[in-house]
Amino acid sequence: MIGRVNHIAIAVPDLQKGIAKYRELLGAHVTEPHDLPEHGVTTVFVKLPNTVVELVHPLGDKSPIAGFLAKNPDGGMHHICYDVEDIKAAVDELVAKGARVLNREPKIGAHGNPVVFLHPKDFNGVLVELEQPPKK
Ligand code: CO
Repeated sequence: MIGRVNHIAIAVPDLQKGIAKYRELLGAHVTEPHDLPEHGVTTVFVKLPNTVVELVHPLGDKSPIAGFLAKNPDGGMHHICYDVEDIKAAVDELVAKGARVLNREPKIGAHGNPVVFLHPKDFNGVLVELEQPPKK
């Protein structure tokens, strides 16, 4: 069902410090911050040869990652995202097999593609995002 790792998201309490770590300490190419008000986050992309790491920082009052940072004040891995070819078929199969899909109706994610999230308790404590990239 799942394909390549689409991205790994890391919640950071201080975006500039997070950028500096990846840019200066690890020598990666990091994009400029991008506000996504509809998702309640500011993100940058660390572009790596095989995948993308997203540093995410809360934006606004009801950011979905504010609670995560309250529990993990130093930041931490927030979710991993895998590509799927057919997100609706993936949801149907997962639900039939008893996995908890947090939003059964896919929503449009930060990259403009449909996404769903799977309950971390079903995946060893890791929040899993599935994304359907555009057909090539
Ligand atoms: Co994501």
